[in-house]
Amino acid sequence: MSLIERKPGDRQTIALETTDTTHLAASKKRLSAAQRKWLEQTGFEAAPGSIALLPDANGKLQRVLAGVDAGDALNAIAHLPKTLPEGSYHLADEGVLADPAQAALGWALGAYEFTRYRKARRAPATLAVKAAELKTLAPLVDATAQVRDLVNTPTEDMGPKQLAEAVNQLGKAYKAKVREWVGDELLKANFPTIHAVGRASHRAPRLIELTWGKSGDPLLSVVGKGVCFDTGGLDLKAADGMRWMKKDMGGAAHAIALARLIMDAKLPLRLQLLIPAVENAVSGNALRPGEVVITRAGLSVEIDNTDAEGRLVLCDALTYAGEQQPDLIVDFATLTGAARVALGPDLPALFANRDELAEQALAAGQAVQDPLWRLPLWRPYRKMLDSYLADFANSGASRHAGAITAALYLERFVADTTPWLHLDTYAWNDGDRPGRPRGGEAMGLRALFVLLQKRYVRA
Ligand code: BES
Ligand code: ZN
Ligand code: ZN
Repeated sequence: MSLIERKPGDRQTIALETTDTTHLAASKKRLSAAQRKWLEQTGFEAAPGSIALLPDANGKLQRVLAGVDAGDALNAIAHLPKTLPEGSYHLADEGVLADPAQAALGWALGAYEFTRYRKARRAPATLAVKAAELKTLAPLVDATAQVRDLVNTPTEDMGPKQLAEAVNQLGKAYKAKVREWVGDELLKANFPTIHAVGRASHRAPRLIELTWGKSGDPLLSVVGKGVCFDTGGLDLKAADGMRWMKKDMGGAAHAIALARLIMDAKLPLRLQLLIPAVENAVSGNALRPGEVVITRAGLSVEIDNTDAEGRLVLCDALTYAGEQQPDLIVDFATLTGAARVALGPDLPALFANRDELAEQALAAGQAVQDPLWRLPLWRPYRKMLDSYLADFANSGASRHAGAITAALYLERFVADTTPWLHLDTYAWNDGDRPGRPRGGEAMGLRALFVLLQKRYVRA
């Protein structure tokens, strides 16, 4: 971890002062004449992202000035753990950031590197923070790193079984109960859609369930799309569309990480985590376009496109979740390309069957710089999934409103009486940015955790 505890009276760590163009003059007053001269000579103007390393009279690194955008605490210092010289720093009290804890979170998120297949390129610089800050930040940092690790891991090392192992590890760590239905057990227990999507893979499909908490507490169900690889099935994706589909279990990664945050914080609720884990593969027994599958809910679905598999594995999991009348169902899924067309990579699409719940989720996201954007469950578009022989199809001829029609499909499996949130998330950074390294990414995780804290923790 790139965050360490700052002990009272600490003199070891180097002061890191955040500043900007309007505060640069004040920052300079705290420096020696030689240091001020150095800033002039090197043209330091406190532009966001710029840094000045300031030596003392003996040439030892004494202080760092970091230009920041004070309105963007999360990303203000996120580039520093990989650009500052190795060592330990602390944020000087004179800095311009209103929320140093948020900046420290950004630092830790920026220090991440995926090291399963190669060594870290360098050790990150560490930031010393107050013990209380470290205590609230560490679980968020660890949960985000887990999402990234799970998503970054290639399918060969992150199949349905490995997803189950991740849930089992959680179960052990937090004394939760884990059970699974594997392969044909899915048919016996009536999870036909999960089996249908996953049956063509040599790695058996499964539904993984973790349960935790005290009876009497309200029940929260968290569901995550665990498509460990999405070839598209017989409606095979082209190479470009398939290239990154190891990340199609990103929803599952978010669900697992949220479960971990909930149990770590001991939120007063009963948790049910559900991961339908499959590979959408091609083989002789693959699900064909035109087939009709009878879902767990008893509704018949015509397979219009085998590439719309996420909603298929989710629908039986959502039905199962609803059977215990939960207080709330939350699902995460890398469900549609259309959500990315609508909102781009950084804004998960939020769908909710309660306005108040949606507003709370949006507000939570804004408060912790983990933004969500709401799209409507526009009922008239249901007809885009009309089937000529089944109750409805899993996709239709039109590509219009693809994120909405996918959400409308899921909505049919959630009772109107059950509050429900659906996040269609990208779970990926296409390029490197400060605090947001290229590869797997948590998007909407902190927002949802804050929402749940507000909903379930009495003030
Ligand atoms: N996993 C994809 C969606 C996806 C694609 C997410 C790219 C993020 C990036 C999903 O299973 C899928 O293929 N959806 C189709 C649905 C269509 C066939 C109705 C899509 O979005 O094109
Ligand atoms: Zn697909
Ligand atoms: Zn998919």
